[in-house]
Amino acid sequence: MIKDLIIKNRSCRRFHQEIPVDRNTLRELVDLARLSPSAGNLQPLKYILTCEPEKNALIFPHLAWAGYLKDWPGPSEEERPSAYIIILGDTEITKSFGCDHGIAAQSILLGAREKGLAGCIIGLIQREQLRKALAISARYEILLVVALGKPKEAVVLETINSAGDIKYWRDTDGTHHVPKRSLDELIVS
Ligand SMILES: Cc1cc2nc3c(=O)[nH]c(=O)nc-3n(C[C@H](O)[C@H](O)[C@H](O)COP(=O)(O)O)c2cc1C
Repeated sequence: MIKDLIIKNRSCRRFHQEIPVDRNTLRELVDLARLSPSAGNLQPLKYILTCEPEKNALIFPHLAWAGYLKDWPGPSEEERPSAYIIILGDTEITKSFGCDHGIAAQSILLGAREKGLAGCIIGLIQREQLRKALAISARYEILLVVALGKPKEAVVLETINSAGDIKYWRDTDGTHHVPKRSLDELIVS
């Protein structure tokens, strides 16, 4: 079960933007993050939820999409995410967020996948521009953005080729291919 869900949980960058994701769904996803591990159990993460087209439009320009796909500028107007969860670090709790936000993001994505949605963690963010666009207080560090929506692309996993190239790529049908290293390559001893 968990392996099937993890295999299905591929980063998705093209969505049916016309299909909304409601705020209650986003709250349920954040609840999964809330129940996830946190270093020292500090639970310093806070979240901004957005599923309104006007607010989504303020976020999109500050995100970078699929850096390896050099000839693809990111999702077109009608294929953009229907919702975002912005993961913040509350600096009044701690200044160091460790890997809490990565764990939270994965919980959110797995929950989204189980609901028939898909998403992408975005770490390459124009943070100061996004802070300004949403008037995010200096109290919060912007850690990650999770883009979410109804998936509009097929993504397949493949074994890395003999050249060891880890770059994802898209074929002529638009299917997105993600090379993964073999299990034996990962296990040191
Ligand atoms: C911390 C982190 C930051 C990421 N940042 C971006 C990003 O800025 N833009 C993007 O398109 N994808 C981003 N991704 C998605 C990765 O490109 C993706 O996980 C990788 O290509 C493997 O594909 P998979 O998620 O389907 O296994 C990020 C993933 C992680 C874990």
